[in-house]
Amino acid sequence: MAQNASSTYLVTGGAGFIGSHLLDALLSNPTTREVRVLDNFSSGRREHLAQHAGNPKLKVNTLDLLDFPKLPPYFQGVDQVFHLAANPDARWGIENTRLDLEQETIATYNVLEAMRQNHVPRIVFSSSGTVYGDVGTTVTHEGLGPCLPISLYGAGKAASEALITAFCATFGLRGIILRFGNIVGERTTHGAIYDFIRQLAKNSGELKVLGNGLQAKPYVYVRDLVGGLMFAAQRCSELEPSKFDVFNLAPDGATSVRFIADELVKQLGFKGRTVIHYGDSAGGWPGDVPQSRMDSSKLRRAGFALPRSSDEALQLAISRIIEWLTKRAGAEDGLKLPRDASPQIAAA
Ligand SMILES: NC(=O)c1ccc[n+]([C@@H]2O[C@H](COP(=O)([O-])OP(=O)(O)OC[C@H]3O[C@@H](n4cnc5c(N)ncnc54)[C@H](O)[C@@H]3O)[C@@H](O)[C@H]2O)c1
Repeated sequence: MAQNASSTYLVTGGAGFIGSHLLDALLSNPTTREVRVLDNFSSGRREHLAQHAGNPKLKVNTLDLLDFPKLPPYFQGVDQVFHLAANPDARWGIENTRLDLEQETIATYNVLEAMRQNHVPRIVFSSSGTVYGDVGTTVTHEGLGPCLPISLYGAGKAASEALITAFCATFGLRGIILRFGNIVGERTTHGAIYDFIRQLAKNSGELKVLGNGLQAKPYVYVRDLVGGLMFAAQRCSELEPSKFDVFNLAPDGATSVRFIADELVKQLGFKGRTVIHYGDSAGGWPGDVPQSRMDSSKLRRAGFALPRSSDEALQLAISRIIEWLTKRAGAEDGLKLPRDASPQIAAA
């Protein structure tokens, strides 16, 4: 079914950071018949969906993807799945080694099996550049292999990708796998900017950075990423049954953690006041890939290009996060604007 026909979407993890921005786009599209969210609200938040309260096209279901017997009915009549639910943070798998196995691999299997049982034709999947493993500053492209991830998170993404291609080929599904760079922006639920702001809210005099700060990765502003997700859905609808494809989705180049720390301190009005402490290690934690460079020319050739560089994406994201925090009502996760901040928001 082409995208211009009326469509029912199912978004796993739709209450999360990326998922909630995707909902904004889907619900503003006049061809959308219904958007079904499946989310267990482990890191997702009701406040992310508040602006759509009362929208009859949005159906939010509190459900754990690991509870397979409950899943199939929600997949009836769905045209397109966006599978975003996962453990979103590579660090959490260090403490709990079952986390990525369950939240990535088994959750993805459950989604695919529920799709198969209900003849749902299409899936777009949020994978990550972590599948490539630690290849230094080698610019990764989709043909690079074998993929040898070094974190349990990356392993879970690689296993999920393999399940998707196998379900597509065996059962006639169609799939697009997007390997994201690092995604940043308002409604963030985890990651370096999130951690830094929480630290600065407690004490704006000091900021402790994991690793030496020279880690450098490509960053994507979340609303730009949503453009890529919508493009992928269109692309998916054009595939023949049993076909799948994989695309990197990241800008050329990379931004260092030092740049992020400096930019955040500057935009919060703390420049010259906050002392930033760096560690000694190249990576922030075991399994952290200290350097990542991604080639998204395949996606550009297919017709989708990101509108800004990695540095620009970060500057914009920090501005938008600060604006969001100035209006945010609650802060149950501890993410709030430092009381003594005097935002110097860069023009976006
Ligand atoms: N944010 C990034 O930088 C980034 C980079 C690469 C890939 N990704 C991937 O994009 C996807 C979305 O990430 P995000 O940054 O929005 O994270 P997020 O934590 O904000 O969103 C994940 C959502 O999934 C839900 N969820 C988790 N486990 C679930 C389960 N078992 N059943 C139902 N719901 C469940 C959470 O409650 C949350 O709403 C994830 O798959 C993540 O791995 C994110």
